[in-house]
Amino acid sequence: MDFIDLPQMIAAAGTVRLPGSKSISNRALLLAALAEGETEIRNPLHSDDTARMLEALRILGVQITSLADGGLRVQGANGRFPRQRAELFLGNAGTAFRSLAATLALTAGGDYVLKGVPRMHERPIGDLVDALRQLGGEIDYLGNPGFPPLRLRTTKIRPGGVVRVRGNVSSQFLTGLLLALPLTGAATTVEVEGELISRPYVRITLDLMARFGVTAARQGWQSFHIPARARYRTPGVFHVEGDASSASYFLALGAIGATAAAPVRVEGVGHASIQGDTRFADALAEMGAAIETEEHAMRAHAPASGLNGIALDCNHIPDAAMTLATTALFARGKTTLSNIASWRVKETDRIAAMARELGKLGARVEEGADFLSILPPDAPRPAIIDTYDDHRMAMCLALAAFGAPVRINNPECTAKTFPDFFPRFRELVTPAPVIAIDGPTASGKGTVAARVAATLGFHYLDSGALYRLTALAAREAGVDWTDADAMAGVAASLEARFEEGRVWLNGREVTETIRSGEISAGASKVAALPAVRAALLFRQRAFHRSPGLVGDGRDMGSVVFPDAPLKIFLTASAEIRAERRRRQLAERGETASHADILADITARDTRDTNRPVAPLRQEKDALLLETGHLGIEETTRKVLAWWSREQTA
Ligand code: DC
Repeated sequence: MDFIDLPQMIAAAGTVRLPGSKSISNRALLLAALAEGETEIRNPLHSDDTARMLEALRILGVQITSLADGGLRVQGANGRFPRQRAELFLGNAGTAFRSLAATLALTAGGDYVLKGVPRMHERPIGDLVDALRQLGGEIDYLGNPGFPPLRLRTTKIRPGGVVRVRGNVSSQFLTGLLLALPLTGAATTVEVEGELISRPYVRITLDLMARFGVTAARQGWQSFHIPARARYRTPGVFHVEGDASSASYFLALGAIGATAAAPVRVEGVGHASIQGDTRFADALAEMGAAIETEEHAMRAHAPASGLNGIALDCNHIPDAAMTLATTALFARGKTTLSNIASWRVKETDRIAAMARELGKLGARVEEGADFLSILPPDAPRPAIIDTYDDHRMAMCLALAAFGAPVRINNPECTAKTFPDFFPRFRELVTPAPVIAIDGPTASGKGTVAARVAATLGFHYLDSGALYRLTALAAREAGVDWTDADAMAGVAASLEARFEEGRVWLNGREVTETIRSGEISAGASKVAALPAVRAALLFRQRAFHRSPGLVGDGRDMGSVVFPDAPLKIFLTASAEIRAERRRRQLAERGETASHADILADITARDTRDTNRPVAPLRQEKDALLLETGHLGIEETTRKVLAWWSREQTA
């Protein structure tokens, strides 16, 4: 799937059960693998990042069985992996890479190579390598100094004493070191140089180590002590709580689009959580959202008075803070997120990426080395969002759909931590309503659709006009209607504007011009080109906005709005349509013979019906409305009656 198109959403409500926490799953897997005894891990996350860790542990010789309920049974290797040589591919899983690098560097007699995706090879690891070298770790950079891939061939560990590690680039260096140190058997003190960022993640590390039998003492966030002869022992059963970073998208959804009567509820994190990202809820509350927290669940809904922008130091919630950046689209005034320099070395440079994408939606964004400030637009613009192979970009920008229709490119990147994010998201949101009216040329659908839209106060999409505009733009640019590639380019760069029944192309009004016989025939030809249809798809979906849309064309119900709750197929015999068209032309003072018009209509019907892409036909779930004996008024009334029936159904 190359993209997912989201129409503008008008409400959110319901319950989501969160997938297991990534941070906890990967730490628990490693600890269970290193521990003495067998561990049953319940509710682990199944995603790309945890798959990389699992795969690596299996290659290292650890026995892991999948259980029927999604759990995992891990046979602990008691401090030493069975395999002493291995090459491991860790994708873009930061936690897995850093913690395995530390563990394997402190395994004397091993020979390991650790690799990742190209982006992983751009993410720094020098601070961790420097720390491991103090303990005798023999580590080579196989690419650029300071970055993966790594080769680890430690011959002898120098156990104990004091190890220094820098804490201001990534807290995962300290996490990796702490997880691995008990393997040395010696009492060791880790001293953090510089400010330690993302402290809540280190808290998770300490908490999990304790659950596996090793208590590290800490003094503030500067010094950590691992006792001598520390050994990991299985807790037997280990339950993974829901992912608090994943919770942020749904809590924000509630804060933007839910009511007190029907809030959004997330299950799997609450008071009892050990994840720092639960503090995201405090940030949302500061924006004005109503949040309620239970032991293992949270609920959110929008405040009656709307959300407010905030200024926040986000050091404690580096991942969930991304969700604040898109929530800011729906807040009054500016939101400034500071102390987020670590965003620049994550899956992508998240500060730059976020600034670019929010800009597409119309926000005024200011970007600094370690901050981002967002001033929302009055109304977000529809936009095609790039996700930079970054799961969190995809998930937090889905929220923008509350402001405008958005296309999210490469949505499958959410597989890193939340493979079924989009299906879950769709379950909780209500899109703006849409009525799809299809039918052959001169069936009256355009007039009827426009009237229905006016009566309901909905937007109106005349999709045929887009094909007509494409034909006209090509004619003016000297592009041949049969040249598929060039035509796709024309369609993609169409400079069109619609306003109150009038149409502009490149700033010039062409309302009448696109209705000429020549352009009508051209439209029907260019509409048969798949590349033209693909290029116009999001442009049509961008009309799917609050409070609702009526679209007319040939493929409204089949391709453009297949989920439309009301689909209508309007038709009349070619004879009747030809006669209607003749009268229409006569009113404009143009004369044409009935026979000529009939021939033209029949030719267009044939082309529209027989083309392989999006042919004109009545969808199974479309209601047929035969208008031969009905006037515009009666047809409009019938459609409105069907719509009100649909509303009460
Ligand atoms: O509805 P109309 O007559 O303005 O459409 C002009 C041409 O565009 C028509 O011959 C078929 C094509 N068209 C299409 O293929 N799909 C649509 N959704 C709308 C129009």
